[in-house]
Amino acid sequence: MKILAIESTCDETSAAVVESLGDGVRVISNIVASSVEMHEKYGGIVPEVAAREQIKSIIPVITKAVGDEEIEAVAVSYGPGLMGSLLVGVETAKVLAWAWKKPLLKVNHMAAHVMANWILRHPPEVLGTGAQDRSITESNTVSQLHEVPGLPAVGLIVSGGHTDLILMENMQKWTWIGGTRDDAAGEAFDKAARILGLPYPGGPEMDKAANKVTNEEWDKYKNLFKLPRPLIHDPGLEMSFSGIKAAVARMVENRYQISDVRSQISDNNFRNLVAREFSEAVAEVLVMKTILAIERYHPKSVVLAGGVAANNKLREALKQEVEMAGLSFRVPELKYCGDNAAMVGVAAILRPEKSELNLKPDPSLATV
Ligand code: KG4
Ligand code: ZN
Repeated sequence: MKILAIESTCDETSAAVVESLGDGVRVISNIVASSVEMHEKYGGIVPEVAAREQIKSIIPVITKAVGDEEIEAVAVSYGPGLMGSLLVGVETAKVLAWAWKKPLLKVNHMAAHVMANWILRHPPEVLGTGAQDRSITESNTVSQLHEVPGLPAVGLIVSGGHTDLILMENMQKWTWIGGTRDDAAGEAFDKAARILGLPYPGGPEMDKAANKVTNEEWDKYKNLFKLPRPLIHDPGLEMSFSGIKAAVARMVENRYQISDVRSQISDNNFRNLVAREFSEAVAEVLVMKTILAIERYHPKSVVLAGGVAANNKLREALKQEVEMAGLSFRVPELKYCGDNAAMVGVAAILRPEKSELNLKPDPSLATV
């Protein structure tokens, strides 16, 4: 069954055509338009601008994604997200489902992020080096593809608005087991970036800045750049990221007040070193809490998802720790970490929730 999936929760307008294949889902097309550059000068998303851009992009994006494909159902993210943006995707999906006389499937955007881990792709050994991103073609057999994550799994969802740990016993039974009590991890990255004078969205910029620090530089300076790891030794699965962000502000303010070595480091290097320590601190907390969840719930695998899953430090650190604990680790390819419609289609196929044509957006929907 080929599904047209639509994603319009925030500043990305995306449409995809996907199809179930074995235990996973194959992506036939995935088109993403983004208004992120229009928000840069405001230092954050302006909801009215995002909604207006959604209206402009939605039909061209859907047209390009569908091509000549025969569509059997329409899926759409109906929350959480910005009301104006959500309305564009939901209303368009309703009209298409009605006009084509096809079922309308509603999808929770956060669940869709997790389900991006069920997108089928080739293991590197089938493709050869450097070709991991080649899309799957009609002739590929299921046996050539990566296996889907084993259940039960612990899911770590890290995005701009959410930081949640969930236990996935099967495709239907998901339980929230922990998360942040204040800022989401992505929000903390964005705010810290702003303090450091990096452009919006700050997460990818912080990642780039952190990666510029060589290991030698890091060994030399890391003791001068210590940030807190909130709640890291707490036995619970609660997290907190607002304190790390506040500590970055103090570190920047104090740089010239105390005549220490930090005032002699160039502005760029100073920023890169703070970004490196910030990434280390956030990754350490997330890894520690995921390991705690593994010890408590004994899953077969860990899946990482959401925009912050694109973070290099986090991907590497979590993979290493989870595999050391003897479990399998999954994270989507970079193009499926941020908002995209392919993940919405996967969720619609593997966790179907049928809907009526009176579907309403739900901006504050919880993950589970
Ligand atoms: O999942 P997402 O695309 O949108 C939401 O549903 O929120 O996540 C966006 C968040 C932003 O806060 C962005 O700065 C962050 O993900 N992000 C990153 C990276 N790429 C995106 N944070 C850290 N490192 C990255 N490489
Ligand atoms: Zn998202």
